[in-house]
Amino acid sequence: MSFPTHRYRRLRLTESLREMVRETTLAPSDFIAPLFVVPGEGVRQPVPSMPGVDRTSCELAAKDAKELFALGVKSVILFGIPDQKDAAGTSSADPEGPVCKAVRAIKSESPGTVVMTDICLCEYTDHGHCGVLSGETVDNDPTLRILAEEALAHAKAGADVVAPSDMMDGRVAAIRKALDASGFQSVPILSYAAKYASGFYGPFREAAESTPSFGDRRAYQMDPANVREAVKEVLSDVEEGADLVMVKPAMAYLDVVRAVKEATNVPLAAYNVSGEYAMVKAAERNGWIDGKRVTLEILTSIRRAGADLILTYHAKEAATWLA
Ligand code: PBG
Repeated sequence: MSFPTHRYRRLRLTESLREMVRETTLAPSDFIAPLFVVPGEGVRQPVPSMPGVDRTSCELAAKDAKELFALGVKSVILFGIPDQKDAAGTSSADPEGPVCKAVRAIKSESPGTVVMTDICLCEYTDHGHCGVLSGETVDNDPTLRILAEEALAHAKAGADVVAPSDMMDGRVAAIRKALDASGFQSVPILSYAAKYASGFYGPFREAAESTPSFGDRRAYQMDPANVREAVKEVLSDVEEGADLVMVKPAMAYLDVVRAVKEATNVPLAAYNVSGEYAMVKAAERNGWIDGKRVTLEILTSIRRAGADLILTYHAKEAATWLA
């Protein structure tokens, strides 16, 4: 049953035919756009290593979210850069901090936007680690309470989804419990369940000012060599109450996306992270690749691997191309 009876090229002859037999779709509603929010008003600072990405004050974040919504991107995820940092990341739960203010601004400017907030302490601690320290180690259990308070503050501000990215054990359960105890039973948790200790986060750390002042995150984020462990992480987060789960980064971890997809039935997100974005932009600027074509190919491959949703800095341009 092969050539010449079968000629696979028959179904590749025209764009209409190709579209009819296409196995994977890509739409603006698949995207979640990350937004960096800073204190102040009228602030828009480009992030040098991420052309097209800005850090903005809250009212401009609201404007951007509204524009994204009009392009079909229904969701944003907020990262805050606070004025004040301390050892315990106290400002992470400040109702007047940039994230809470941006949540309120976006919900009033663009009520249909699903506003997610990143729950972590690395932007709020003066040492840049994702939890409180005991010596040079991040202390898991005392960190859980602070993360739960951060999630609660975001929910009170009106966040539609909270997304813990710290990789502490037990944080999904701790956040679920805190939300439920305060009447936020309906706020879903998107868990960064399989988050790797990756070199691809470089540009983000510049944008979020969250580079650790000593050491690295290998004692809490996952070893890039592991995939069975990713499935274990995801299953336990689902058991703790995660409504959606994430694999991060995406491009170098498509096998992990596939493994997680096969092991679970909750919606799956993948994070097309800052370093992946920066590489495409750099090569495009050098004239080495066709940026649009490569971007759409990458986003399609993440969907093909099994991701339902993609967190991506390409959200706006890709939505424009797909219109
Ligand atoms: C931690 C967090 C990080 C990213 C998202 N949430 C950085 C880290 O773990 O160091 C990285 C996202 C990216 O690189 O685009 N709050």
